[in-house]
Amino acid sequence: MVTKVLGRMLGVAGAAIAVYVVVVIANVALAAVSGSNASPERSSPNRLLAQGRHTFRFDTFGDQAFWGGALQLNQAIAGSANGGVGPGVSPKTALAVGLKVDSTRLPRAVKDALKAGKLNLDDPKVTLALLKLNAVVGVRGFFRDDRLSSMGLTCAVCHSTVDDSFAPGIGHRLDGWPNRDLNVGAIVSLAPNKKPLTDLLGVDEATVDKVLAAWGPGKFDAELFLDGKGFRPDGKSAATLIPAAFGLAGVNLHTYTGWGSIPYWNAFVANLEMHGIGNFEDARLADANQFPVAARAGFAHVRNERDLITPKLPALQFYQLSLPVPHAQDVDRGAARRGKAIFDGVGRCAGCHMPPTFTDSGWNLHPGSAICIDDFQADRSPTFRYRTTPLRGIVAKLNGGFYHDGRFPTLGAVVDHYDSCFGLHLSGRQKSDLVAYLRGL
Ligand code: HEC
Ligand code: HEC
Repeated sequence: MVTKVLGRMLGVAGAAIAVYVVVVIANVALAAVSGSNASPERSSPNRLLAQGRHTFRFDTFGDQAFWGGALQLNQAIAGSANGGVGPGVSPKTALAVGLKVDSTRLPRAVKDALKAGKLNLDDPKVTLALLKLNAVVGVRGFFRDDRLSSMGLTCAVCHSTVDDSFAPGIGHRLDGWPNRDLNVGAIVSLAPNKKPLTDLLGVDEATVDKVLAAWGPGKFDAELFLDGKGFRPDGKSAATLIPAAFGLAGVNLHTYTGWGSIPYWNAFVANLEMHGIGNFEDARLADANQFPVAARAGFAHVRNERDLITPKLPALQFYQLSLPVPHAQDVDRGAARRGKAIFDGVGRCAGCHMPPTFTDSGWNLHPGSAICIDDFQADRSPTFRYRTTPLRGIVAKLNGGFYHDGRFPTLGAVVDHYDSCFGLHLSGRQKSDLVAYLRGL
């Protein structure tokens, strides 16, 4: 069924079948070179780590058949002057929608030209050059001669950022950090062909555009392609913040609503969100009441003859578990020490956020009522619960707000919420101490 849907998408895209075949061959060749099909038991830990990092940063799992072949985003990026359509995407535009550039991929001449202001950041041709250097974090360009013949996405586009060490948006990779600048909705809405999306969701293009425009920076809606819900009952976007991919070792269930383990969710995302080519199984998605879009599209049972995803899951998980957790440098230690006592004591925080993972040990899910919030997002998950967010590395998550949808703009607002939810009656000093502790986790 999914193969059929994909087939329809490809049919729409005309010459895309040819692209599809080429990319599958290219990916298989890549897999052979990087040896990412090796079984974990037979690989040394270092090799496994290197394979997982390669997959996390660079592997599209064949998803260029969707982003390039079907949606034709490569054409929008190139622009009519370079064999595509429309004005094209200049480096300035790419940085403005939150895409990041890996400075270590830039040759000295390009860095010098950038520093001297001699690189025309208004010219889409420069974007193509950056893609050819494989320097745009999480975006892969596929070239035939000098033409951008397709493009795909990797995990890193959402779950990596850069340290801005060269310039804003340009620097060394920070894998696992959520890219809270990335406007996924704005990027997807550039697609010249939205028919694959309107067909999947069963709505018109204006509706798709409205949903995508409402996401804003740092957000994506992983459940939209399952239940078709673009908006919450209060009219706000149903999208959630992109979470960190670090700090998850020892954590049982993943995602804001506890869909499953890391390998479960990685398979889910690579197949159903990135639209890579693989196999996936989850009978829960056959429930047409909760997941009408997924049930219609056959997402409960995805089969492809060539599986570009499953063999890469062991190393990918290994890499994610190895990602370092960042810590804030500028924490008031005295205040943080007092905050810890509140967190573990009268604040009752550690009752769910148990150190060292800062999520519940065991089954880490709770109904919205346990933390005084609505169940809209929980009800979009087969668990009908919220997962206790692992709190380490908060310094990488300070932009975009807190809780799954960013409803609390600051940590102070989160603490105020718990204060009234749990009837804690914390003093102003206790609240700021608690915030100091959270910032340093
Ligand atoms: C388009 C942006 C995007 C891409 C690409 C993406 N993710 Fe995510 N990821 C998200 C969002 C948004 C969530 C939260 C989903 C939810 O809770 O419903 C998430 C959740 C996760 C989580 C759960 C984190 C936690 O706190 O439990 C992990 C792990 C993860 N993604 C890993 C990956 C991997 C590995 C890839 C590549 C195979 C990937 N993601 C690709 C946006 C993305
Ligand atoms: C009943 C279990 C429970 C208790 C007790 C609890 N939390 Fe939470 N916490 C959660 C859940 C579940 C979430 C996820 C909510 C969401 O994403 O909508 C969360 C989210 C958070 C977040 C947001 C993290 C992020 O990155 O968005 C912070 C910060 C936080 N809690 C701090 C605290 C503090 C401080 C206390 C004590 C005053 C506390 N929690 C007590 C379950 C709990």
